[in-house]
Amino acid sequence: MPEPEDSATLYAELLDSARRLSFDLRDCQTGTDDADRYGMTPEWSPLYGTPTWIRMSEPERRRLTRREVTHFLGVAIWLEIALQIVLLRRNHSADPTRPDVKFLFNECADENLHSLMFVGAIEQLGERHSPLDRVMILMGWVFRTFAWEEVAYGIVLAGEEVFDVMQRDWSIDDRVAPAVRRSSHVHVVEESRHMSFARQKMRDRLRGVSRVRRYVSAVLIAFGAHIIAKGLINKGVYRGLGLDWQVARTEIGRNEHHRMMFRRATAPLVEFLDREGLLNGLARSIYRKSNLL
Ligand SMILES: [Fe+2]
Ligand SMILES: [Fe+2]
Repeated sequence: MPEPEDSATLYAELLDSARRLSFDLRDCQTGTDDADRYGMTPEWSPLYGTPTWIRMSEPERRRLTRREVTHFLGVAIWLEIALQIVLLRRNHSADPTRPDVKFLFNECADENLHSLMFVGAIEQLGERHSPLDRVMILMGWVFRTFAWEEVAYGIVLAGEEVFDVMQRDWSIDDRVAPAVRRSSHVHVVEESRHMSFARQKMRDRLRGVSRVRRYVSAVLIAFGAHIIAKGLINKGVYRGLGLDWQVARTEIGRNEHHRMMFRRATAPLVEFLDREGLLNGLARSIYRKSNLL
């Protein structure tokens, strides 16, 4: 389907911006890890400020955030792979000289570099990767197989927005391990183009669609965001540290600080969805249930 002229111009500009400022693996190297650093800004730990957190020693808190960020980066990689599968499949037979398809090639190249960069950060942290839970694996298959364009871009955008807000903090926080700080900086820079691309793609796809389709797409995007938010909290992370999962889960569920941080992470997304008419009553209740609104 041909893109409107203003969209084609934006896609060409994004590709141009990628030519001017992109990173490669050499830019992501940070030397040795500093074991005395947190894995991420401690305030982003879902357990931050809970009774369990208060009881922990400083080294235990550092270890907790190193394990949590290992899992967060694992989820980021999972999203980057899913995005490529779904979008490449949708564009397999498209005209490869189209500006949006050319940008998609560049985005996929970025995502592969990001995944490698995150694996490097995980290896430097020296923490074990916790397997994703079964619901997430199943929903990943549903997403890869059935998501149509605005739903795919919407769910991808939800993941990118959440990581963007978190990683902006991690990238400038001296308390955080250098590998996480560096990879966060690279990711924030390159993902800003991906987010512009996803927003414009969604506007293009939603132009003139029926109210029913807009409603269904809005609900599916909310559901996808819910799965990502829930998937960041993984029982293997807490059990792996010898914590009682039921206690950790209850404390995270009641943690007002954690809710506030997640609402902050999704504020730009919610604003965009609202503007585009993708925040109906059911979608709102799903975002509230996942503490994203
Ligand atoms: Fe990425
Ligand atoms: Fe991306």
